[in-house]
Amino acid sequence: MSNTGTSVIFEGTGSYAPKRVVTNDDLAKIVDTSDEWIATRSGIRERRIADETETNSEMATRAAQAAMADAGVTGADIDLIIVGTCTGDSPLPAVAVHVQRKLGIKNIPAFDVAAACSGFLYALDVADAMIRSGRYKRALIIGSEKLSAITDWTDRTTCVLFGDGAGAAVIAAHPEMTEGVIGTRLFSDGNACELLYVQSGGSSRPSSAETVANREHFIRMRGREVFKLAVTAMEDAAIEICERNGVKPSDLKLVIPHQANLRIIESIAARMELTKEQVYINVDRYGNTSAASIPIALDEARKNNRIQSGDLVLLVAFGAGLTWASALIRWH
Ligand code: ACO
Repeated sequence: MSNTGTSVIFEGTGSYAPKRVVTNDDLAKIVDTSDEWIATRSGIRERRIADETETNSEMATRAAQAAMADAGVTGADIDLIIVGTCTGDSPLPAVAVHVQRKLGIKNIPAFDVAAACSGFLYALDVADAMIRSGRYKRALIIGSEKLSAITDWTDRTTCVLFGDGAGAAVIAAHPEMTEGVIGTRLFSDGNACELLYVQSGGSSRPSSAETVANREHFIRMRGREVFKLAVTAMEDAAIEICERNGVKPSDLKLVIPHQANLRIIESIAARMELTKEQVYINVDRYGNTSAASIPIALDEARKNNRIQSGDLVLLVAFGAGLTWASALIRWH
């Protein structure tokens, strides 16, 4: 919704990318694909794949530490942690409590939100509302994924698309400021949940020798159908939040779309008549890192001086669920 009351400011951002780079040529050695096919259909050239020490919570913690350093705050200043993720270290507890422990922060709420690729924007919306309620001052919001752990490395239709990583931001109430989060919008449609899912490992079909033999613990996706819905949903979410807040696409300094597929991003850019400079793209280097994709791109964009004080920034995401979301921010 469009916000009233206090300003909620992004005080700092951070990210963590696993050390190991896997190129399209590397994947062509394990499945029947090519750099040409992957690059043409998705825009992806390489992705980062985490090793066994780079767990979801470890990557999330590193991104959080970077965001806290950027914001100039310590653990004592944080009173809420929310992680957007669909690849937790284990089914329970939440990644957020592992992060809390690793950061040495006690007695604050820490929980995950499950909205797949839209997870960071869901975390932002929830944290923003909790801060605006007056009950919390400063939140650590994180998008962190280890998709490689639920990727079927024998399925060429999915394994070429995904990557690992984490991004984080510190957001806080600043009643004295006029910039900050202008509005956020969340959407979901459970009718399309079978387009993108992991069948087993939950309570309806617990893992067993049979489910593992059937490779049911990996992501399955009907890519072409997801693609069509992603284009429409992301375009609509991006345009709607601008209209609600009286913003023209030409007013936007930077649009950071979920980095799933270059063709989806180009379609949004064309419909909104955005220039190349207005759209941030790093899908070529990371692939689809689900909830981590927007906060990694946001952190990179800031480091590359693509966002300055006073700029209008639009974030827009789409993911399994189906879920989709947008956020409009006046950078401080
Ligand atoms: N290498 C070579 N050929 C391949 C590969 C591959 N890696 N994968 C599929 N193909 C083949 C298919 O078998 C098919 O062959 P056929 O025509 O003989 O049947 C052909 O290529 C075309 O396949 P399509 O699936 O139609 O290709 P498309 O152009 O739709 O691109 C893609 C596929 C990249 C997956 C696209 O559909 C897409 O990006 N979908 C959206 C994914 C997405 O955005 N997900 C977001 C959410 S992710 C989350 O929430 C975790």
